[in-house]
Amino acid sequence: MREIRVFETPRALAEGAAEELASLAEEAIGERGKFSLVLAGGNTPRLLYERLAQAPFRDQIDWARVEIFFGDERCVPPEHPDSNFRMANESLLGQVSIPQEQIHRIRGEIEPVQAAREYEAELKAAFRSPQPAFDLVLLGLGEDGHTASLFPGSTALKHKKHWVTAVEHHRPPPPLVTRITLTLPVLNAAREAWFLVSGGGKANILRRILDTEGETDLLPAQQVQPVSGELVFLVDKAAWPEGR
Ligand code: 6PG
Repeated sequence: MREIRVFETPRALAEGAAEELASLAEEAIGERGKFSLVLAGGNTPRLLYERLAQAPFRDQIDWARVEIFFGDERCVPPEHPDSNFRMANESLLGQVSIPQEQIHRIRGEIEPVQAAREYEAELKAAFRSPQPAFDLVLLGLGEDGHTASLFPGSTALKHKKHWVTAVEHHRPPPPLVTRITLTLPVLNAAREAWFLVSGGGKANILRRILDTEGETDLLPAQQVQPVSGELVFLVDKAAWPEGR
């Protein structure tokens, strides 16, 4: 099932997403005692993360029961400007009280294959099940149709067994550094997967992503099709394709 929500502005998108995320967290914690959340990197999610760190969400969400994971990471140290962890830490994680052991950072500072193996082991320890059923996976959308660090034509898109993989990345979009990314089977095992899409620069790719009818060569973002979970596009008006 796919849902699309269009918001007037990037701030309205962040507000609406924060409200929905808070109620999802309450539901997950009520039912299963915790809320497992996969954070997206890039720039778009920053407004949402900053909003979650403010009232009422900072007090409404039971952060002590939130478990944080990352959809992907650039192979740079955590204090590097390109680090997805650094962006999330500055905008949210450093502002709310999540127990450190519940923040599962991908170690971008170590050898990439080792970092991928280590992160996969951490996920397997956290979920102890054939597939990690995250409560919510947040995803961005690149103008080339990539999501997380799953880029068009990448062999990472073919992984069926691995939950995490290292990805060489030598051509735009920047940064041109090796990445660590969750694989499609993991994204598609989520209870909910949200694409956060903002800005006029994303209108063309969003149009293409939404019109999968008859497409055979699916872009990475089109291959995010939760097996039994919900797929939601939260977009602002600027990103909403004309005439849809
Ligand atoms: C990353 C992200 C990536 C991002 C898209 C959109 O590490 O860069 O995981 O998939 O979500 O590139 O990025 P913007 O939100 O900056 O447009």
